[in-house]
Amino acid sequence: THVVTEQCVHCKFAECITYCPVACFREAGTFLVIDPEECIDCGNCVEACPADAIYPEDELPPELAPALEWNARLSTELPLATTRVEPLPDGEQWQGRPGKWDTLPV
Ligand code: F3S
Repeated sequence: THVVTEQCVHCKFAECITYCPVACFREAGTFLVIDPEECIDCGNCVEACPADAIYPEDELPPELAPALEWNARLSTELPLATTRVEPLPDGEQWQGRPGKWDTLPV
């Protein structure tokens, strides 16, 4: 599977969804996750993301590895991102900041 890491949090540029040929993205308020049961590993979303937030599972950097568990868990709880999600208005201010996952009440 591919995995959305914390670099998506507060950015949510939403470019990834339009490049996904299946319905694997799920939407939270400030980020997306990928449902590992739906992802076909096409990799289109990796290049599409301006925040470099998406990795193939086997290339996840160690510091971003917790994302594997929360993509799997949250994808069972969150709604499908079927239409194009509105990008967050201040997303660029958050781009590349470390520790964004810790800012969430999840
Ligand atoms: Fe997030 Fe990048 Fe998509 S910031 S919403 S994974 S384009």
